[in-house]
Order: sequence, then structure tokens, then C-alpha cells
Amino acid sequence: MIKIAVLGGTGKEGSGLALRWAAAGYDVTLGSRELEKAQRAAAELNAALGKDMTRGTTNRDAAAQADIIVMTVPYAAHAATAESVKDVVQGKVFVDVTVPLDPANVRRVKMPPAGSAAMEAQQLLGEAVRVVAAFQNISAEHLKSLDHEIECDVLVCGNDKDAKQQVIELARAARMTAWDAGPIENAMVVEGLTSVLINLNIKHKVKAAGLRITGFLRP
Ligand SMILES: NC(=O)c1ccc[n+]([C@@H]2O[C@H](COP(=O)([O-])OP(=O)(O)OC[C@H]3O[C@@H](n4cnc5c(N)ncnc54)[C@H](OP(=O)(O)O)[C@@H]3O)[C@@H](O)[C@H]2O)c1
Repeated sequence: MIKIAVLGGTGKEGSGLALRWAAAGYDVTLGSRELEKAQRAAAELNAALGKDMTRGTTNRDAAAQADIIVMTVPYAAHAATAESVKDVVQGKVFVDVTVPLDPANVRRVKMPPAGSAAMEAQQLLGEAVRVVAAFQNISAEHLKSLDHEIECDVLVCGNDKDAKQQVIELARAARMTAWDAGPIENAMVVEGLTSVLINLNIKHKVKAAGLRITGFLRP
């Protein structure tokens, strides 16, 4: 069975993804900077699932034992979190969900010098790590209830086709439609779209605006 580690899995986005993957039968471990916090978050997810299906540990231990690592931390923690697991993620699929929001104005796109958070992760972790950028446009609001139908699509960027396909499967398991959106360079657009969605949320007083691809046959 595929083992997934969600770094920062105690937070809003990571716990929602973890809930959906655990419900789909994946082996999911929540990572945190603090062991006890991760264990508490896993206990809460297990209570929601009605079964002991997830566990919690440190980000590093979670990453070391997983096949696919998913990083869901605020941009301020992005480089430090990636650096802390660098040696244990070599050769693995590393999914970056981070949006480099500018705390001074989350409605305005501001990319880091590397081009995007995902490009920065790729540079920091090295070419042997199969970095895939995904889920940046899916509000945590959509993820937290298993009954909720998600209408928004996931755009998946990266340089490794097989890794992208694995992430498209993960999105499907979490009951979302995902599309291969091209190489890792394209992640800057996808990350930037989150600021566009935040603008729409604020303007229309909603919590979870999203995107959907149209124009051809959906799966
Ligand atoms: N929330 C959404 O709707 C949403 C949607 C799409 C994309 N995203 C992106 O997903 C990422 C996570 O978002 P989120 O809303 O889940 O964030 P969050 O709940 O604020 O934080 C997630 C986890 O990151 C860790 N963390 C927080 N500050 C940290 C720091 N300074 N240093 C190291 N670790 C820290 C914490 O885990 P521990 O304390 O347990 O270590 C926290 O539980 C962000 O990049 C965000 O832009 C979020």
C-alpha cells in the first residue's frame, strides 16, 4: 500500500487531504514539528473516520517512512521544512501544496526569486526528488467533510510524468478531478491563481472559490 506523509498535516489543508486519503484506504501519517501535536491531530482524524487509520509523528520521521510526501505549510515555513527532510526524500515523490502568499497582501501575486514555491522546493531538494506542485487552488473548506462534493479541479505541474500521474490518482482518490498542467515552471501560474481566488472570496463574501477546466470530455 502507498504510504503518504503530510508535513504540516496538523493544519487546515493538510488535515483535510489526509482525511480524504485515509478514507480512501491509503496509509497516511501526519507530520508536525511537535510529536504530541501530530498525535493529537491523528487522533482527531481517526475519531472523524471512526477507525484508527492515521497516525502522527514528526515531519522528519513521517517523511522518512513514506513513499509520497505532501508538504502543506505556510510559505514562511516552506524552505525550512523542505530542508529538514531533504536527505530522507531523495528519489521520492514530493508534492508541494504551498502558495507563496505575501502576508502584507494575500490578494496580490508575489512569487519568490526562484519563480514559485515549487521551483524553490525543486532547487532546494535537488533534481533526484520528484517534485510535483498540486492542490494549491483547493480551499481547505472543501476538504474537511467527506460528504462534500468538490467541483474544483486540481492542476498538477512537474517534470516527472509518472510522479504527476501518481498525484492525479491521489486527487481522484480524494474525489477531485486533476489535470496534468505541464512542467514545474507552470506552477507559478497555478500558485498565483490562489491570490485570484482569494480576491473572489473577499469580493463575493465566500470561503472557497475554485477553478474548473471545461472544453473537453471530463473523466
Ligand atoms: N488553507 C487553505 O484553504 C489552503 C488552500 C490551498 C493551499 N493552501 C496552502 O497550503 C499551505 C498550508 O496552509 P494551511 O492553511 O493548512 O496552513 P496552517 O494551518 O496555518 O499551517 C499548517 C501547518 O504548518 C505548520 N506551521 C505553521 N507555521 C509554521 C512555521 N512558522 N514553521 C514551521 N511550520 C509551521 C503547523 O504545523 P505544526 O505546528 O504541527 O508543525 C501548521 O499546523 C499554505 O502554503 C497555504 O498557502 C492552503
